[in-house]
Amino acid sequence: MRIQIDNLHFTYPSGVEALQGVSLTLEPGEQAAIVGQNGAGKTTLVRHLNGLLQPTRGAVRVGDWLTHETSVAKLAARVGYVFQNPDDQLFKGDVRDEVKFGPTNLGLAPKQVEAQVDEALALLELMDKVEVNPYDLTPTWRKRVAIAAILAMDTAIIVLDEPTTGQDHRSVQHLAGLIQHLRERGKTIIAISHDIDFVAENFGRIIVMGQGRVLLDGPAESVFAQEEILGSTYVQPPQLARLASRLELGQVVYTAEGFMTAYHHKKISNGS
Ligand SMILES: Nc1ncnc2c1ncn2[C@@H]1O[C@H](COP(=O)(O)OP(=O)(O)O)[C@@H](O)[C@H]1O
Ligand SMILES: [Mg+2]
Repeated sequence: MRIQIDNLHFTYPSGVEALQGVSLTLEPGEQAAIVGQNGAGKTTLVRHLNGLLQPTRGAVRVGDWLTHETSVAKLAARVGYVFQNPDDQLFKGDVRDEVKFGPTNLGLAPKQVEAQVDEALALLELMDKVEVNPYDLTPTWRKRVAIAAILAMDTAIIVLDEPTTGQDHRSVQHLAGLIQHLRERGKTIIAISHDIDFVAENFGRIIVMGQGRVLLDGPAESVFAQEEILGSTYVQPPQLARLASRLELGQVVYTAEGFMTAYHHKKISNGS
């Protein structure tokens, strides 16, 4: 499902102009990461996708629906939004009820609901925690419940707001595998993240925001080469990209594999 954002402006009632003319298109099944300093407007932008916020000016289309002409309840069938803070999202007394809520609300047949709930619980490794109260889980596991609750709705578009925040190493690795799985399933994924190494490893398209605008948008290798613009919104290129630049490897690399290839080329061309 295609997402088209045209000249989006949004001003909060307080007068803060959080978005100042954002235009973006995401093709069906595309995966992009949004980075940029705190307050850049990342969360405000993605909250327009499921209608939690409505444009002050401009328009947002999700497939053939204009969000300002579509109810939040209806948009929920197309866009799943995992909140940055699970405590803002979770409200049920046990994990299974929490994960069941979304698909039930979409009006799916009970058998279909059960199938989607079981799949989401299995994907997030929550099968042995179905009767636990989410508030008795650690933040890492609460985040997993929040993700499962959205995946259970099987939307074409999934938005993850800071999915790695407060996650231990194993859960971050698990999340990378999950994103890979969703990619193979053809899902559109938009992830907001401060973790630039995670972004570099898992997303081919990087959208850089600063002060309510899109500053850069493109494949990782061209975005990570723009150190000055990145610096203006307090984003540092991935550690590997910075190391490659200091070693003068002659190209922008940001994955371990790309780094090793460039490093060997350099060694060979140096005759060592
Ligand atoms: N509910 C709100 N009311 C008023 N201003 C807000 C609200 N939420 C965010 N803002 C302001 O809007 C701007 C963009 O915030 P946000 O979209 O949360 O940025 P990001 O997710 O990139 O950190 C900031 O200046 C922030 O202080
Ligand atoms: Mg945010």
